[in-house]
Amino acid sequence: MEHWNEGVLTMDQVSMKLDQSATETTKATYQRLAAVYDMMEILPERRYKPWRARLWRAVEERISPADRLLEVGVGTGKNMPYWPRDLDISAVDLTPAMLRKARARAQDLQFEVDLKLGDAQALDFAENTFDFAVATFVFCSVPNPVLGLSELMRVVKPGGWVFLMEHVRSQNNLLGTLMDLINPIIVRIMGANINRDTVANVRKAGFELSRVEDLGMGGIFKMIVAQVMDASEASGN
Ligand SMILES: C[S@@+](CC[C@H](N)C(=O)[O-])C[C@H]1O[C@@H](n2cnc3c(N)ncnc32)[C@H](O)[C@@H]1O
Repeated sequence: MEHWNEGVLTMDQVSMKLDQSATETTKATYQRLAAVYDMMEILPERRYKPWRARLWRAVEERISPADRLLEVGVGTGKNMPYWPRDLDISAVDLTPAMLRKARARAQDLQFEVDLKLGDAQALDFAENTFDFAVATFVFCSVPNPVLGLSELMRVVKPGGWVFLMEHVRSQNNLLGTLMDLINPIIVRIMGANINRDTVANVRKAGFELSRVEDLGMGGIFKMIVAQVMDASEASGN
């Protein structure tokens, strides 16, 4: 399978590629949206709920009780109702106001969970900390998605799994071009890029793609399952 393995990035490489100003803009956008985010998402969420359930079922099929899981870009905590109980879960988000909502939801659902502010592009966790990582509708808004995905490579153990649900640029030429055209407006209002090729970005970060499933809307919504390869497998030894 074709992939571009950039390997684990050093902290210097991370800070070089981290666009602070773009990251602050993303944070400001979600800070502004946080109060209305769940309301805005009521209709789309009717479509997303079965997809979330599907993703978490797939996680549960692979996970063991002793495993550690990281959710990146937890937002207001929409995945929490699907989180496996009695599992060691950590979750981060860039935006304080989104995280406040997530904390309230965790309390309502009686989850004792490590929820903290954090940037997917510079995660405050040691290498090989987690067995699983999950992110839903996040890598459309992370300013440098390959850097964020490389960070997941770093903090997830070799052999560990990453589960993503993302919207991506349509493969239909006309629709794809339209998405390119309106993308700057959507980014400004919603903080999300609608024309990213997240499947390619996952490969660029060095993951082994295990499954890419079209969820709906002509392949725009995808579940992506990827694995961190052992260094020996990655080098072909
Ligand atoms: C569209 S929301 C999705 C929230 C949630 N995952 C869901 O499925 O509803 C995107 C979230 O990603 C967060 N985010 C954006 N860039 C991030 C980054 N660099 N690091 C961590 N979180 C980020 C935003 O603050 C926001 O909460």
